[in-house]
Formats: sequence, structure tokens, C-alpha cells
Amino acid sequence: MMPSQKLVFLPDPDIARSCYVSDNAQYKQMYQKSIENPSEFWGEIADNFYWKRPIDFDNFNRFNFDFRKGPIFTKWLDGATTNISYNLLDRNIRNGNGKKIAFFWEGNDPRNSKHITYAELLSEVCRFANVLKSRNVQKGDRVAIYMPMILEAVITMLACTRIGAVHSLVFAGFSADSFAERITDCQARVMVTADATWRGQKLIKLKNICDESMDICQKKGHTVDTCIVVAHMQRSELPTGVSRVQYTAPMLNCRDFWWHEIVPGASANCPPEWMQAEDPLFLLYTSGSTGKPKGVLHTTGGYLLYAATTFKFVFDYKPGDIYWCTADIGWITGHTYVVYGPLANAATSVIYEGTPFYPTNSRYWEIVEKYKVNQFYTAPTAIRTLMKFGEDIVKKNNLTSLRILGSVGEPINPEAWLWYYKNIGREKCSIVDTYWQTETGGHIITPLPGVTAMKPGAASSPFFGVQPILLDDNGKEIEGEGEGYLVFSRPWPGIMRTLFNNHDRYEETYFKKFPGYYFSGDGARRDSDGYLWVTGRVDDMLNVSGHLMSTAEVESVLTEHSSVTEAAVVAKPHPIKGECLYCFITIAENAVFNDQLQTELKQLVRERIGPFAQPDVIHNAPGLPKTRSGKIMRRILRKIAQDDHDIGDISTLADSGIVDVLFKTKPNTQR
Ligand code: PRX
Repeated sequence: MMPSQKLVFLPDPDIARSCYVSDNAQYKQMYQKSIENPSEFWGEIADNFYWKRPIDFDNFNRFNFDFRKGPIFTKWLDGATTNISYNLLDRNIRNGNGKKIAFFWEGNDPRNSKHITYAELLSEVCRFANVLKSRNVQKGDRVAIYMPMILEAVITMLACTRIGAVHSLVFAGFSADSFAERITDCQARVMVTADATWRGQKLIKLKNICDESMDICQKKGHTVDTCIVVAHMQRSELPTGVSRVQYTAPMLNCRDFWWHEIVPGASANCPPEWMQAEDPLFLLYTSGSTGKPKGVLHTTGGYLLYAATTFKFVFDYKPGDIYWCTADIGWITGHTYVVYGPLANAATSVIYEGTPFYPTNSRYWEIVEKYKVNQFYTAPTAIRTLMKFGEDIVKKNNLTSLRILGSVGEPINPEAWLWYYKNIGREKCSIVDTYWQTETGGHIITPLPGVTAMKPGAASSPFFGVQPILLDDNGKEIEGEGEGYLVFSRPWPGIMRTLFNNHDRYEETYFKKFPGYYFSGDGARRDSDGYLWVTGRVDDMLNVSGHLMSTAEVESVLTEHSSVTEAAVVAKPHPIKGECLYCFITIAENAVFNDQLQTELKQLVRERIGPFAQPDVIHNAPGLPKTRSGKIMRRILRKIAQDDHDIGDISTLADSGIVDVLFKTKPNTQR
């Protein structure tokens, strides 16, 4: 089904009545203020937080997005000092929320659950911060985190912020190679992990992966001197059908320490390190089109304001609500909308360790019912997977607590949107299709609940302080209806500040293509009502189940195999994953293309990048469509992958005959 700009759903009046922003006029007035008078708009919000050294309103926001005028930079609240953990914990406790539950933790197995209050969280954070200090972690040092969805992951992140250390989480589905690459890039000396975690009935031996990556780091000349390990497996119930586990995490003397042996004895008092608003808060690696991951750097003051404000308005979070975001903590959604945004609002959230399919395919809905979740935030790929099980399975649980439903990570197709709206939202909930990126820190284009008339598949309108612009191929701004490159001419507080240790690449990637603008890498369409529809990446990136990766990174893995001489990877639409990887390979003269080679290549990608990057199709290509200067024409490969014979102009190809050959050699299963 193609998105229709005619299909519109009005917010439910009962829900709209109680929302922070109650109508479009109020949204417009607030939006205008955020654009015309950012220091007043954000300054009023900043007043809710604690600043050790107060904000200098003459120095509220400075930036340069035009490299022709000098280096690119963005600064918000420069000169003010604060501490994020202080704002998320101590401040909330002072405001009377000490006994309030910060997180309900739900384990992979329904028999495992616990909760933690704001006061308890502060004590644990301080304890762990003191442990980090005892391992000589200082302000500005990077700490690598490779953890499952457990409370210690949050505690570790906040403990870093307590002492001014910079956390760098790596999604615990990445391979040892990928993890090692990220650790060496940011030179982290300290690592925090868990022995293992259950995903359904599958045990993921995290410590083994960490050991492997520490070995790789060592070979590259970088030493991790401390690895702290949560004994999580030991406290987890065995999943149904598993009678026992034969795994003991290997521990190396003097380098590896069990969390439970060193943390409980540490002092629960740790004064916060006062940080400059523009001091680094965290690094998060995201795929880059050259194949080498980029260490996106977010700073303290602006990120705090932006995470807090987007969370409050987009999810319309009210005291007493129970909020649940299913994203893994290792992605930006997990950072901003599992940890920082909710805690900045003294929210109570659910954190869930497992999968939507264990012990049954209605686990998500059981959790919604169990905790009476009011806001539920997930990814289109999860919705599409759950749709497969039909509507009856959803009806078994009481979902009437739900008020707001969120979607993130990729464009949501109208079928999935409508299913979500009807079956999960009972045609009452507002759906917020939040468009944003690791780089943007928080939502930038999104409907507001209770306000925006919803169009399935449209990210809709800019959030406060955000000014989206569409450009044509010549860099000219498109007014009114039209489709083009999605760019932004001014910063909002949560935008990334640089790429770790690589400001040149930051300027090159985001600011060179269109001077004067931050370029998102996405295309978008503006309809006749002014709604924005994000159409997807316009660069060499793929989005598989909401995981962004570059074609180059997969290609370089494929060509590592001795049988492969050349590889070109493109995205192919996939009914569940959104997109999947379609790989064209040319093989060496003496090599044989058979099942074994395909299995080996898939395995290699799993090992080098992670299981989520496994290719769906490997096409034995006798040649690749190239221009005379040797550039691979991916546009043509995408058409071939989709079996679309409407190829367009191929006059620039060095050998136009290759197109026919590639259609003829397509693997049978994919025709
Ligand atoms: O292409 C856009 C897509 O995901 C990209 C960002 O990926 P990442 O940095 O991993 O962050 C994902 C979580 C914020 C974007 O460049 N994307 C994300 N959300 C949407 C989306 N595309 C369309 N609609 C969305 N709601």
C-alpha cells in the first residue's frame, strides 16, 4: 500500500483534552517562540534543572553551519555547569520522588522481575561511580559498555556521568570485531559487561565476546585494563525447555572483576563532578558510508534539555504514568528514551530484557497489561513481526491503559501503522511516528499527541526549535509541496557536536554537500498540507530492522573472503525487516559459487559485524554495472535486486550488456 496523504486520523478528544499541548494553535505559538526566541524558550525549560554555574543568557546559543565562514560548531548554554546524574537523581529526590519507582525491570523469564526507586538508583550510581574512580577513571575518560537490558546498564551510564567519564555503549548484538574497533577508536581502558543474557531460549555469552574483543584490541596495541562483569546469568531463571547451562564466564585475574564483589562495599556517597554544558556526555558509534563507524559525540547541557523536553511533549508524560520503550540501551533510542529523557522527567519506566516472542508471542502485550503501560514505544519491524500472529493474540490482554503509541527507526508502512492503531491503540491512542537519528540526539520531526491529525506513515511536523528544509539537487530550497534532501539550517540543543577525534569527517559528512545546512542523509516529501514524509536514506546506507549500516562496511567484509574479488551491496525491500541486504559478488577465477560459499559469506558478515547484518541474498554476478570511470552504479543494482526492469538511462555504463546478464543470473528464490 502506498502512503496516502488523504488518510487522516484525528486525535481522540478524551486524550487530547489532557495533553500538555492541547491544540494546533498552541503548538504553533510554542513552535514560533522556539524559533524566534530560542533563549527564552529553552531558558524557561532550563530553569527546571540545576545549574551549578548559572546560564549566561547572552551566550545561550552560538553556532556556525557554513564551512565557508569557518569551522562548524554548535554550543548551547556555554559556560553554565551542571551534572546530569545530579539532575536525573538528586534533583528528583529533592522534589519528593525518592520513593518513586524509576524502573520496573522485567527479565527474559517472566519469573524474573524487580524494581528500583530513585533513591536506590542514586545509591547504586554513587557506589559504581566510586568503583570507577578506584579504577582510576577520571573526567573525560571513555568507558566501554556492552550490556544486556539490565538495571546495571543504567547504573553504569549514570555512574559515568556522575564523575564526568564519557560512556560508549556498543549494542550487545555487535560482534567482537565491531566492539574492538569501537573500543580502540575511543581508547577505552575500562569495560563493563555481564556474563551472559538470555534472549528467549538462547544464551548470549557476552563475556566470551568481550574477551575476544579485548584480545583483538591487544593485538592492535590497545589494552583494556579493567573489565567489570555483572553475574547476571546466575540470577536468571532458566527458560522453559532448558534444563541446565554449561557456561562459566572466564575471568582473568587482576583485569576482570565481578560486580557483586566490588560494588556493594563501595560508598553510596559520591559528589557529582560539575561539568561544563559543552563537556562530552557520551559517544555512540553509528555506521558511516565509508564503512568505518563514526563516534557521534553528544554534550551535557543541550542534550539534557532536549532529551527531557522531547520526552515530555512527544509522549505526553504525566506524573504517575508508566512508560515503556522497547529499544535496546545500546542504540540512541535506548540512551535518550530509556535512560535520559524519562529520568529527567522523574518518570517510571519499564525495562525489558527479552524478546517479543518468549515465552509466547504475546509477551509484549502481557507486559503492557502487567505494568498498565500508558506509553509504548517500539520499532516498525517489531510491529510487522507481531502482526503476523494475528489479532486474536492481542485480544487476550487488557491494553486499555495505553494512551500514546510510538514508532521509531525507519519509515512505518501504512499497513503496520493501521494495525498498530486499530489493534494496539483501540483506535483511541495517538501514534507518534518519531523521525530522528543518533546524530540528532532526540526526536526532530514527529506528530504531537492530542494535537497532530495523524497520517499513517508521515513523521508530520518539526519539534520545537527544529526547522526542516527540503533542498533540490542544486541545493535550492523547495517551498511548499515537493520532495528533496532533508536538511536543517540551525541547531536544536540535542544535535551532535562532533565525531570523536575526527572533526574533519564531521564537517565532511554532514555539512559539505549543502553549505550552510546540516544534511541528514535522508530524503523527504512535503505534502499539500505541509506534512513531512521521510522517504529514507539517499546515501549508501541501509536500514535493516531499524539497524543502520553502510553498504561499504558489508562489502569490505565480503571481499575479505578469498573467493570474492568484488562485492556491491544494496538494500532490497523486505516485508518484516523493512530492508534486507542483497549482495552482488564476483568470484575469483578458480573459486566455485555454491551453498558452502554462501554460508561462509553469511557467517563472515555475522562474525565481523553482527547477526543482524546477515545478508538475505547473495547473487553470483559475472560483472557489475560500472561507469567508464569505474564507479559502480548502485541505482541499477537496486533495480535488479527488486526485479524492476524499468532501469532508466544506462548510457553511461561501460558495458550495458551486464544489466541483462544480471537479470538472468538472479538467484531463483528471489525472482
Ligand atoms: O533514515 C532515517 C531512519 O533511521 C535513520 C537514523 O538511524 P539511527 O541513527 O540508527 O537512529 C535510529 C533511531 C532514531 C534516519 O536517518 N529513521 C529513523 N526514524 C525514522 C526514520 N525514517 C523514517 N521515519 C522515522 N520515524
